[in-house]
Amino acid sequence: MLSNVLLLALVSSSALAQSFRRTGACPKLGCVFPPDQTDFIAGQTFDIRIEAQAPVNGTEAYNGGKVDPEFSLHIGGEGAELVPITQFLGVPESTVSSYNFTYFEDYFAQDAGARTPVNVLAKSYRNVQLHNPGTYRVVFKYNNGMTTEAKWCVKPLAKVAKAKNMIFFVGDGMATSMISAARLLAHKTINGKYQTTLKLDEAPAYGSQMTHSLDSFITDSANSASALFTGKKMTVNGLNAYTDSTGRGFGNPAVESVFEMFRRITGGQVGIVSKAYIADATPAAVCAHTAQRAQYTSIIEQYLNGISGNQSWFPWGGVDLLFGGGAEDFLPGPGNGNVSQFERWQQFGYQLGLNNTQLQAFDNSQRALGLFTQGNISTWLDQNVYKNALDLAVKPRGGRGAYDQPGLKQMTTKAIDILSTRAKARGTGWTLMSEAALIDKEMHVQDVDRALGDLLELDDTVRATLEHLKEIGELDDTLVVITADHGHGFDVFGSADTKYLDAQTTDRAKRNAVGVYEQSGLSAYQVPAGVAPNNQTIFKGPNGPGFPVNWDPRYTIAHGWSAFPDKREDFQVNNQSERVPAIRANASAGFFFNPADNQRGFSMSGNIGGSNGQGVHSLVDVPIYAFGPGHELFRGVMGNVDLAFRVAEALGLGRDSNVTAPYKK
Ligand SMILES: *[C@@H]1O[C@H](CO)[C@@H](O)[C@H](O)[C@H]1NC(C)=O
Ligand SMILES: *[C@@H]1O[C@H](CO)[C@@H](O)[C@H](O)[C@H]1NC(C)=O
Ligand SMILES: *[C@@H]1O[C@H](CO)[C@@H](O)[C@H](O)[C@H]1NC(C)=O
Ligand SMILES: *[C@@H]1O[C@H](CO)[C@@H](O)[C@H](O)[C@H]1NC(C)=O
Ligand SMILES: *[C@@H]1O[C@H](CO)[C@@H](O)[C@H](O)[C@H]1NC(C)=O
Ligand SMILES: *[C@@H]1O[C@H](CO)[C@@H](O)[C@H](O)[C@H]1NC(C)=O
Ligand SMILES: *[C@@H]1O[C@H](CO)[C@@H](O)[C@H](O)[C@H]1NC(C)=O
Ligand SMILES: *[C@@H]1O[C@H](CO)[C@@H](O)[C@H](O)[C@H]1NC(C)=O
Ligand SMILES: *[C@@H]1O[C@H](CO)[C@@H](O)[C@H](O)[C@H]1NC(C)=O
Ligand SMILES: *[C@@H]1O[C@H](CO)[C@@H](O)[C@H](O)[C@H]1NC(C)=O
Ligand SMILES: [Zn+2]
Repeated sequence: MLSNVLLLALVSSSALAQSFRRTGACPKLGCVFPPDQTDFIAGQTFDIRIEAQAPVNGTEAYNGGKVDPEFSLHIGGEGAELVPITQFLGVPESTVSSYNFTYFEDYFAQDAGARTPVNVLAKSYRNVQLHNPGTYRVVFKYNNGMTTEAKWCVKPLAKVAKAKNMIFFVGDGMATSMISAARLLAHKTINGKYQTTLKLDEAPAYGSQMTHSLDSFITDSANSASALFTGKKMTVNGLNAYTDSTGRGFGNPAVESVFEMFRRITGGQVGIVSKAYIADATPAAVCAHTAQRAQYTSIIEQYLNGISGNQSWFPWGGVDLLFGGGAEDFLPGPGNGNVSQFERWQQFGYQLGLNNTQLQAFDNSQRALGLFTQGNISTWLDQNVYKNALDLAVKPRGGRGAYDQPGLKQMTTKAIDILSTRAKARGTGWTLMSEAALIDKEMHVQDVDRALGDLLELDDTVRATLEHLKEIGELDDTLVVITADHGHGFDVFGSADTKYLDAQTTDRAKRNAVGVYEQSGLSAYQVPAGVAPNNQTIFKGPNGPGFPVNWDPRYTIAHGWSAFPDKREDFQVNNQSERVPAIRANASAGFFFNPADNQRGFSMSGNIGGSNGQGVHSLVDVPIYAFGPGHELFRGVMGNVDLAFRVAEALGLGRDSNVTAPYKK
């Protein structure tokens, strides 16, 4: 039984740092980055940072805001003597930096404008590695006797690499409930039994992962992708770098991703594909390091030159290909010294493509930069069904009408051709991160049809990828992992008779158009029969197997959300353009029903703060699928950080010396 005193201590410490944090991962006044509970791949590069803090006032006020100048950091293996970190790692002593920052303790302090100033003394040790598997105790002493401890663990090494190549697909925001809904739209049942299923449903390994951040239980795509690719929990907005108290996006304590390790150790090829603007969080987490995901100019520079400046780790040498949207970040502008990154990348030897025709014409032996729009690439639904929306899509160098865009499948299969051709010529393997980014972006704006269209496009891409790997003889060498970074609280609870809904005049009567339980009926989306190349009976629409023919049947799916802004819901496809559920009158007003959105629908009062015009991420665990060599590592329930260790194990990236785990075919 816990004593009352201990219970009180536990309860009171959990009340601190709930909505506002002095510094994430730093419950005491001393911070150690990487923090307690961090696991490492043997030989993974990282930076260490320590901070001693002294709040001037507030509940944690210390010594009038004066930090003691004496502090020390020691480390030791399990049960061994603690030694100074510099001695243990053979790194030089670092200089102390001194600064201050302010923060709000809670919402009341925020309303009162009462900030707590905090003075800080900090030190960083850059570019270090731990090689010996086992646990380590790290002890930081500061502020005249205060102690912060961290337990670190270096995971065991793989004896043999199982896979030579890897493709990591991220269905951004893809919860299992959305996969169920997509399957329902695109695959036919007879008497309740599916006649065909998703390609994902055929995966020989299936698992799930918990997505919590380091210091918040709801995650964003930056820290969750960092967790997937580095095996380290991070703070919201953090990309492969811890959010220290500097408030800056540069010089934060960074950790190496599995893609960077793969490049450093094997010299292999690394490619990035996304349907988002390419400086967005998930693609950036392949090799960029910043506590602020919106540092787009820096992220693009890191794609090319890796982590650089004072933090330089190793000659990264540039990604081998980068395909996506977001050309606006490559145009000359004040943020990048007025330099055109199109021309600059060409000078670095990249071929440049600005539409699908040019993408397909890329020379497979050369590095490539393919940017097909400004902003996000258009959704699958807009590219394939409601093409009028492309009139509004912005071309890479500006001007509306980006009609010749690739989809995720075209980008991914071309990426495989380039990476495998180049890898073969160099005797290496290759890795690719491919992101179905718009599942998340469309879920945010409650545009279910566009989100599910892009989810089905991911499934179609996985099918095409496995077929293509077989064609080029790389199927047995390539691990393919598909997962999400977080979910949205979305589910389907019945069907909607849209004709009846449209005919009703009051919100309450419109709700009677929703059929639940036995009144939900069967899916009304058409999936005409055909035969797939593998002789599976498949229901093939005009856009290939695995998509419905019609997106506007009379009976649609009725769906609900755990977090949404004020909106009207008519359960019908928006056939002109993407939804905008809520708008605000001006920058200081809250978001409210968009009168132009879903006029036929009934109103739903939002359940999140009026500063949110879109839905937000939710807590739900997300699924993991794996095919190919090493797929068995991806079964079961795990944390998001565990995927990085399993990837490292499959690719044999761990190192306790310069010995490479041999790849065994
Ligand atoms: C914070 O730093 C600034 C500039 O270094 C200094 O002027 C100020 O007094 C400091 N604030 C506190 C609360 O110590
Ligand atoms: C801390 O002191 C400053 C003035 O130095 C004041 O502005 C602020 O409101 C105080 N904060 C709290 C939480 O009391
Ligand atoms: C790099 O290191 C130098 C010398 O320690 C320091 O003056 C400078 O501020 C550092 N630059 C960054 C970006 O951290
Ligand atoms: C970039 O262009 C802007 C506008 O023409 C100009 O004000 C700025 O000084 C330029 N910056 C650089 C680094 O040349
Ligand atoms: C693709 O881009 C090139 C270069 O901008 C242009 O010449 C060509 O017409 C474009 N093709 C299509 C189909 O839009
Ligand atoms: C990408 O799409 C989302 C959803 O429509 C939108 O909120 C966001 O602003 C877009 N990003 C860019 C850079 O266009
Ligand atoms: C599909 O069936 C046809 C006709 O029976 C056969 O020739 C072909 O080899 C089969 N293809 C596959 C992939 O099984
Ligand atoms: C779009 O939806 C409206 C309203 O349901 C309908 O009248 C129109 O025919 C639809 N357009 C297309 C291209 O499907
Ligand atoms: C912003 O919109 C709100 C709500 O419509 C209104 O009350 C407020 O006066 C507007 N503020 C400005 C600066 O226009
Ligand atoms: C590992 O390799 C590097 C570069 O080849 C070399 O500098 C270093 O001394 C080697 N370390 C060990 C432990 O063999
Ligand atoms: Zn999101």
